[in-house]
Amino acid sequence: MEIIDLMPEYEKTYFCCLEEWSDDMKDAGDHKACWYGKMKEQGLRVKMARNEEGNIVGMIQYVPVEKSFAEGNDLHVVLCIWVHGHKQGVGNFQKKGIGSELLQAAEEDSRQMGKKGLVVWGLVLPFFMRASWFKKHGYKVVDKDGMQRLLWKPFTPDAVPPVFIKQKKKPEKIDGKVAVTLFINGWCPAMNIAFERTKRAVEEFKDHIQLTEYGTLDKDMQREWGLTDAVIIDGRKIRMGPPLSYEKIRRKVEKRVKKLS
Ligand SMILES: CC(C)(COP(=O)(O)OP(=O)(O)OC[C@H]1O[C@@H](n2cnc3c(N)ncnc32)[C@H](O)[C@@H]1OP(=O)(O)O)[C@@H](O)C(=O)NCCC(=O)NCCS
Repeated sequence: MEIIDLMPEYEKTYFCCLEEWSDDMKDAGDHKACWYGKMKEQGLRVKMARNEEGNIVGMIQYVPVEKSFAEGNDLHVVLCIWVHGHKQGVGNFQKKGIGSELLQAAEEDSRQMGKKGLVVWGLVLPFFMRASWFKKHGYKVVDKDGMQRLLWKPFTPDAVPPVFIKQKKKPEKIDGKVAVTLFINGWCPAMNIAFERTKRAVEEFKDHIQLTEYGTLDKDMQREWGLTDAVIIDGRKIRMGPPLSYEKIRRKVEKRVKKLS
């Protein structure tokens, strides 16, 4: 097992979170590739774990905090770390120390680049990106937003703790229409799937819907709303990760449309 930088031959694998076997990924559109096209010039770093067979079995991606969902300076922020854990495709490689190696590689890289610390986000729930896993690796909580935690490991004494950009505004309700408001950044295929499925569902009921889309790769837009990725139907956020099926999203939209009459 070796840790390598993302190379062109692995871009497709990276764009679908190592899940080339997944039908869900077919709904993710090309948002990740477009995002990558822009972010690779803006400090995005991607490390991958390649096993002896030459398969990519894990990845970590991080960006300068100035380009992330947090406020801070001179830090790197891990958008996500993922060790393939499904039995499909390359199989389950979790709990073999690969995640720890990827995190360590990101720390070393960030130090070498002169960053003052590495920042991660995690959930207090025992799945997805677990805050507790990062705590075991020496990360300390610096901010909270609902079930999310922002944690960091400063490398220098003058490093300043980052904070989450929190939701500031809610989309307005609209008389006679269902308001569907979409926020998309592009970095996360799960979010991109929710975005694409909602757009498909909205198309079916389009006469009854006011659709508004915001691109949050623009940090000012992110700051204005305090949102990075969200699907909001008449003021209510729907679950994004793991994304709901198309049928579930369609039913949510249909329910609101029926309430109009
Ligand atoms: C969090 C995550 C990255 C950790 O990766 P990992 O390779 O499983 O991590 P490690 O093997 O280094 O450590 C995991 C555990 O295995 C243990 N471990 C490490 N090396 C081991 C080994 N050789 N044998 C057995 N256990 C080992 C560690 O002590 C640790 O214990 P814990 O579960 O009690 O914390 C991985 O579980 C993951 O991808 N989870 C999902 C995250 C996710 O959803 N990401 C997408 C968000 S956008």
